[in-house]
Amino acid sequence: MAYLNENYLKLQAGYLFPEIARRVREFCEKNPDAAKRLIRCGIGDVTEPLPQAAINAIKLAADELGRRETFRGYGPEQGYEFLRSAIAQKDFRDRKIDIADDEIFVSDGSKCDCGFVLDILGDQNKIAVPDPVYPVYVDTNVMAGHTGAPRKDGSYEGIVYLPATAENNFVPEPPKEHVDLIYLCFPNNPTGAVASREQLARWIDYARQHDALILFDAAYEAYISDPKIPHSIFELDGARECAMEFRSFSKIGGFTGVRCGFTVLPKSVMGKTDSGKKLSLHPLWHRRWSTKSNSVSYPVQRAAEALYSDEGRKQCRTLIDHYMSNAKILYKACEEIGLKVFGGQNAPYVWVSTPTGLTSWQMFDRMLNEINVVITPGAGFGAQGEGYFRVSAFNSRENAEEVARRIKTLG
Ligand code: MLT
Repeated sequence: MAYLNENYLKLQAGYLFPEIARRVREFCEKNPDAAKRLIRCGIGDVTEPLPQAAINAIKLAADELGRRETFRGYGPEQGYEFLRSAIAQKDFRDRKIDIADDEIFVSDGSKCDCGFVLDILGDQNKIAVPDPVYPVYVDTNVMAGHTGAPRKDGSYEGIVYLPATAENNFVPEPPKEHVDLIYLCFPNNPTGAVASREQLARWIDYARQHDALILFDAAYEAYISDPKIPHSIFELDGARECAMEFRSFSKIGGFTGVRCGFTVLPKSVMGKTDSGKKLSLHPLWHRRWSTKSNSVSYPVQRAAEALYSDEGRKQCRTLIDHYMSNAKILYKACEEIGLKVFGGQNAPYVWVSTPTGLTSWQMFDRMLNEINVVITPGAGFGAQGEGYFRVSAFNSRENAEEVARRIKTLG
């Protein structure tokens, strides 16, 4: 019998979103009438149709694959040049950020990349994560054996947790102690907080002083409306020496089901061997893709490229504006019933304090049972998420308005 990876046995409960889905399924089976009026504001999954530019590009690419003269088999493992170059030019160089085409690696989404990146990083790294945090950063490290045992509050020994609280506007400062690997996500999932240039600069200073690597998740950058807030960590001096960025088309172009994202890894980012030799991480990441992947399908990469066309950009902007108007509606409804509300200004997530005395899972149950609305309990994102819940703005306008009406009946 084969040995199994015992690190998986350390994982707490189910992964947050399947666990919510399980509880909702159970509720629906027991309450078939309430199930009919259920509205989901839990997982941040898009609801609106794909931009027309992406649909046209997929059809065209499918036609190309259907003709001998234009048929394509395996593509480059790191992504087609047409997409890597559109990304590097339009997301970075057009914004005066120095990123080369071959520093872009196309993938099937940033969630996957956040896990895959551990393939090229050592097991000895001391890891820091904000708390609350997108659970993928923690769980992938647990699976890889980079943590100790779980504690009662859901945290793991061996990880440095950086409290993101209302007091620090949900943007933690660098720790006093040494860490090697830091996960940051801005605009933040789940709190909707954003980091200023000054705050990110302090992180870069820390990373350079400690020879640490920042894994910067910018999946929600397109939701930033404040012109002072950086969209990419590479807008800051020094980031090319100490950061890797994760991006996704999921929330920008409605690609959660289509699947496409990318990482940005400058050649100047170094890691070290046990003997202290410094080497660029770029060839390792390149090799990881060559060996383990054949990248994303041709029609999907053409669809992602189409999002950068003038019409594609306009259509993405309409989608983002739609979800951000939902965020405003949901934010206002929670505020009107006297709850403390955060986020929702530069991010599609509204982060809300639970009413006094209610835990976040109790609030989840209350909203499910009383108003048939699914939210995400803050405790699912970490110990510091207790006392909060997250409302996702990814929904139709009709549903967002209906959720707002129902929230106001909670009183
Ligand atoms: C969320 O709801 O936090 C996100 O949808 C999760 C994800 O993007 O993987």
